[in-house]
Amino acid sequence: MTPQITVLDTGGQYCHLIARRVRELGIYADVQQSDVPAATLADRRGIIISGGPASVYAPDSPTTEKELYALGVPVLGICYGLQLMADSLGGEVALGDKGEYGKATLHVDDASGLLAGFDADEPVWMSHRDQVRTPPPGFRRTATTATCPVSAIEDGERKLYGVQFHPEVVHTLRGRRLLENFLFGICGCVKDWDPQQQLPEIERQVQAIAAGRNVLFFASGGVDSTVASALCVRALGAERVHAVYVDTGLMREGETEFVEKTFEGFGHGVFEVVDARAEFLGQLAGVTEPERKRHIIGEEFVRVQERILERGRFLDGEWILGQGTIYPDTIESGGTKKADLIKTHHNRVAGIQRLMEANRIVEPLRDLYKDEVRVLGRTMQLPDELLDRHPFPGPGLAIRCLCSDAAAAVEATPEGWVVPVRSVGVQGDSRTYRPVLAVEELPTEEVIDRATHLINQRSDVNRVIARCGGHSPFSEAQVRPSAITEERLDRLRRADAIVREMSEQSGFEQQVWQFPVVLIPLGDAARPDSVVLRPIYSVDGMTASAVAMPDGLREALVARLLEIPGVAHVLYDITHKPPATIEWE
Ligand code: XMP
Repeated sequence: MTPQITVLDTGGQYCHLIARRVRELGIYADVQQSDVPAATLADRRGIIISGGPASVYAPDSPTTEKELYALGVPVLGICYGLQLMADSLGGEVALGDKGEYGKATLHVDDASGLLAGFDADEPVWMSHRDQVRTPPPGFRRTATTATCPVSAIEDGERKLYGVQFHPEVVHTLRGRRLLENFLFGICGCVKDWDPQQQLPEIERQVQAIAAGRNVLFFASGGVDSTVASALCVRALGAERVHAVYVDTGLMREGETEFVEKTFEGFGHGVFEVVDARAEFLGQLAGVTEPERKRHIIGEEFVRVQERILERGRFLDGEWILGQGTIYPDTIESGGTKKADLIKTHHNRVAGIQRLMEANRIVEPLRDLYKDEVRVLGRTMQLPDELLDRHPFPGPGLAIRCLCSDAAAAVEATPEGWVVPVRSVGVQGDSRTYRPVLAVEELPTEEVIDRATHLINQRSDVNRVIARCGGHSPFSEAQVRPSAITEERLDRLRRADAIVREMSEQSGFEQQVWQFPVVLIPLGDAARPDSVVLRPIYSVDGMTASAVAMPDGLREALVARLLEIPGVAHVLYDITHKPPATIEWE
């Protein structure tokens, strides 16, 4: 299928949100590097240049070919995309006197064309410091904000448009309207995209790629690999699909049984559980540093996978590997120039690269976004219980079971207790690794609002937790040296299972995007650990906000969690991302 719209990627994940929005409006869109040869885009109905973190005047910043603007194809530049367009066509871009982050009021000079349907004063979402000072010749300004005099420009003749704000985020009230104006009004797109209707085509592709061979899957229990596996069963028949589930010992309670049941549910042929608990826990023994834990788990995963692949035969025949890779992963791992921003994905390790080179990989979801994968899953009647699962990190409970090298006590300060357990944060695009601040207040909306101020006031912490209950006074709490042990993992598993069960029953689980439960080595002589609750709202995990929960649920949870042997206190993470990350490690 030829995309009607191409979104040009100028860095980060921004481009995917734009492409997702375009597809939600029923138009097939793909994502390409910003400097793709312009001539290859001549048959598109429209081009969108995404936002990105760079400055157009910095050396080596992402760029586009100038010919792009002379194709006669409408172009919409968003944020950095606007600045790039202005810079390329003879306008001026410079650092603003101050930044503009979050909600802003757009004053609209001309509510026609791209901004049709906009009010004179319109709430929009901004995230920038650079701004267009002078639009290029031929362009006129169509909107401003108090901070950014050139917030939207257009050259109607050449069909070139640019906006400084982000129409792709939900906080821009009429963002969807703007995209509709561009796609249907300006580009003349016609609806051609419905993921549900892709099912027969994907099945045909799977059959063609498999070409009589069997398919092996590493099942994780996540939505993507399960839907991909179910698709292969549908396309090839159960007897030709073999799924291996690796039990790392870092899974949640009942996870192995859940995955087994799900695979049974769609009539999967061979489902094999490989017990690698001893290997993973052995490698992690005594390790406390978060990045090192992640690294060890990644490496061990590769070793176990390669060992299984080397067995060579699955279902007594020639085989290829099936994977649940989805569109953003396909793009990210494609060897882009912005590789420094990108994590190595499990789906692209060396043994798997070799299989790719030998054409022995099938990735039925490689062109789809997560929400589209869910649509396919529902079409295939996979259970909601699977499709609505919260995201769960690859390294499993290991990154939610915090460790410590040394003993230390909590320290009183005017704002609260400094707890000497360090966690990861993200401030101004950099990683921080700092202690947390504990306050003796209940986690209400009001206290959550104050958390950000507390962190801005002091540079020694990056996260704030509220204490909800405990067996002893917090002043006596101590951090003890601890690593990952079966005993601690079991404690965390129990706490996580209780939280999941109670929040599911109360409906709270369905209201939040994710709800990590974290174990930290803070307690007293009889009880070495504490449990942290971390429910959050998010759209894509890139940013997140802390969420308060109903008092009744919180009180009931605290009472149940304090019954777990070895648990001293129950705490509640009230920090947004940024400045904290969602996970603690
Ligand atoms: P952070 O903690 O970076 O998390 O704010 C953002 C989202 O990513 C998930 N996460 C991971 N997912 N492998 C994954 O597949 C990982 O190593 C990993 N680390 C974090 C996290 O659960 C959240 O949804």
